[in-house]
Amino acid sequence: MLRRIGVLTSGGDAPGMNASIRAVTRTALYHGLQVVGIRRGYEGLLDGDFIPMTKSAVGGILLHGGTILRTARCPEFMRPEGLNAAVSKLKENDIDALVVIGGDGSFRGAKELHDRGVHVVGVPGTIDNDMAGTDCTIGFDTACNTALECISKLRDTASSHDRMFIVEVMGRHAGFLALETGVACGAEFVLVPEIPADIEAIGRKIHYAKQRGKTHSIIVLAEGVMPAQTLADRLKGHCDYDPRIVVLGHLQRGGAPSCFDTVLASRLGAAAVEALLEDKRGVMVGRIKGQIALSPLQTAWEEHHTLDADMLRLVETLSI
Ligand code: ADP
Ligand code: F6P
Repeated sequence: MLRRIGVLTSGGDAPGMNASIRAVTRTALYHGLQVVGIRRGYEGLLDGDFIPMTKSAVGGILLHGGTILRTARCPEFMRPEGLNAAVSKLKENDIDALVVIGGDGSFRGAKELHDRGVHVVGVPGTIDNDMAGTDCTIGFDTACNTALECISKLRDTASSHDRMFIVEVMGRHAGFLALETGVACGAEFVLVPEIPADIEAIGRKIHYAKQRGKTHSIIVLAEGVMPAQTLADRLKGHCDYDPRIVVLGHLQRGGAPSCFDTVLASRLGAAAVEALLEDKRGVMVGRIKGQIALSPLQTAWEEHHTLDADMLRLVETLSI
């Protein structure tokens, strides 16, 4: 019988995680369940870093960036001894089920718990948007908007000085953030980890664009392709700009969630508790074509969430 649930945030933080914590807590309380907040992700689970979650504990956090439960990466949890210790900790504290808010790494950990008999539901939260089982992860929209605001300022100075800017956005293995912001800011080039970078082709395109009267250029580069400075160095000799580089970095992880992310996080948080109430286990909640959808946790990393080829073509077409 489900009486008491735990909630934690794990991996990289993402705007909207607080909205999700609030939705999990209040939905659970609404249905008469007790809620335990586990601080610092799986690390806090192993340490027993627990706090009671009341209605007011999640008041005033809806539009705050970061995560009030804090987050961490926990190598110990990836070993069988760590996982078994986590299962014991949940039992000792009478926690009947767990909601894990995080990225695909956190879901891999959640699946290990599920395989050890723990009732787990995952809520996808990462700015990378690199998880299947949902059209969009919590935090992606806000991170895109943050990057867009920065790049639009860089565009002002790029056009005033006839300059090229290379803007490095996050995305170690996935180019969703780069592609989305690249289309939104009218970038001349978007470089993503999924597609090998052709430096000579970029140089040629820049050269012809200049001949046609283009006076400045923006390249949006996902961090996983290569560091911005390396790209700048490699472009020397292929184009006659002296590029300026800007690394947006962790700026993209902070800030108040957008309306889209706040609503998504609220819906998915509530859906996670409803799934537990319906005795669904080892699943993730997602939003697919506007509807809440449940899929096995492993869907997040086993089914590949691929870049939209139409979006890639759009960069090419619209940057003539
Ligand atoms: P994210 O959830 O944002 O993808 P990470 O990949 O860093 O972030 O994963 C967060 C944490 O999830 C890790 O620090 C680790 O504790 C746990 N984790 C990741 N992969 C596994 C795994 N294969 N088995 C068990 N736990 C894992
Ligand atoms: O949250 C995902 C992500 O932002 C990746 O795009 C990035 O590579 C990574 O986290 C960096 O996180 P940290 O500096 O916390 O290790």
